Amino acid sequence: MKAFKLPDHFLLGSATAATQIEGGDKNNSWYNWCEKGHIKDRSTCLRANDHWNRYKEDIALMEKLNHRVYRMGLEWSRIEPQEGRFDDEAIAHYRDEITLLLEKGIKPLVTLHHFTNPLWLERMGGFEDKSVVWYFERYVKYVVERLGDLVSEYITINEPNVYATLGYYFGVWPPGVKSIKRLLKVYRNMALCHITAYKLIHKIRKDNDFPGKTMVGVANHVRIFDPYNKYNPLDILAAKIMDYLFQGSLTKSMATGFLRPPVGLGAPKGGGRYFDFIGINYYTRDAIRFKGFRNEVMPGTPRNDLNWEIYPRGLYRICKKYYRLFTAPIWITENGTCDGEDRFRSRFIYDHLYEISKLCKEGIPVERYYHWTLMDNFEWVEGESARFGLYHVDYDTQVRTLRKSGRFYGEICKRLEVTDDMIDMYLKD
Ligand code: FCB
Repeated sequence: MKAFKLPDHFLLGSATAATQIEGGDKNNSWYNWCEKGHIKDRSTCLRANDHWNRYKEDIALMEKLNHRVYRMGLEWSRIEPQEGRFDDEAIAHYRDEITLLLEKGIKPLVTLHHFTNPLWLERMGGFEDKSVVWYFERYVKYVVERLGDLVSEYITINEPNVYATLGYYFGVWPPGVKSIKRLLKVYRNMALCHITAYKLIHKIRKDNDFPGKTMVGVANHVRIFDPYNKYNPLDILAAKIMDYLFQGSLTKSMATGFLRPPVGLGAPKGGGRYFDFIGINYYTRDAIRFKGFRNEVMPGTPRNDLNWEIYPRGLYRICKKYYRLFTAPIWITENGTCDGEDRFRSRFIYDHLYEISKLCKEGIPVERYYHWTLMDNFEWVEGESARFGLYHVDYDTQVRTLRKSGRFYGEICKRLEVTDDMIDMYLKD
């Protein structure tokens, strides 16, 4: 293990999502899903981290780890609890939270949609019905008119491919559908929602002369798809197809406005360049077999608690590839690991940031890193048992306790480097 430095302008912090930490909201599609008994440990997002009431305490946790940036989500179902009825108190609450972040010198990156829908929208067909483009636009308008003076950076949609595939192909997330036809409708509508929101956010911020440089993008869930057997041409082909279907076609459609099959055809909202940064959420790699068109875990590789391969080199490969495709600043909008015992998180952080430092040296403009995640939280169908946090959370008492890996990360945030002393202190047993 070698010491390394990140560039002086590099920004580090962490990422969260509203439904995973706030608690207290029964008006969203995930609460409903929990109630139906779909969560492995029977926990519910109604509890989560009670962040809605504890945001001040949580911002202090970020401060302690020297965060310069923070990616946070908004809960649409709180802001628009009934169709067309907006809750000024909810948006005022977010304003307070964001104001405090800014006071502490932490720049917010706001996610407008992170997997969860208001129940009224879900009942009307959610992202499957094309009316969602209109509803999403109205919601984004309400938000950006009210927060746009404080927030210049937005993620329109988090991981549209994960949302669509798990909810409409595998049927393990709400609304529990298994249909390729319906999945493709969701893909298409999400692309149109993103493009519409991209244009609108720029327009509102410009018309109002809001301060700061407007930066809008998508948080793309990008996986490495490698052939299970690298000498088998059919596995190689299958990996390429999987990559295109899961991420390639949708990402390109959203970025350029030109819909690629099977997402769609033509440019219904006009062609353009609909991103100001390349947002990458990176976790793992899949080993693809042609036979059965299956994704497996590469044999003999290190895994996290959820059996996801730990493959830091993948981050390097993805950044190179996406930079070649889109040529824009790269923000790692999520990266982290599930490690309840905190056995390998420090090493995970080291290895992934080391890959980033190499990219920076090569002139690839990776500018930011948002660690997933600040504190253990409600991890969708895995519930409270999957622990990704820099802080450990005791859900009964809501006590947050800093992990050793969290301390390590806090030092990196402060110093923008890993020194030999830090290696001795945090990475050696
Ligand atoms: C990503 C999600 C995030 C969290 C992490 C572990 O796919 O965006 O909400 O669940 O995985």
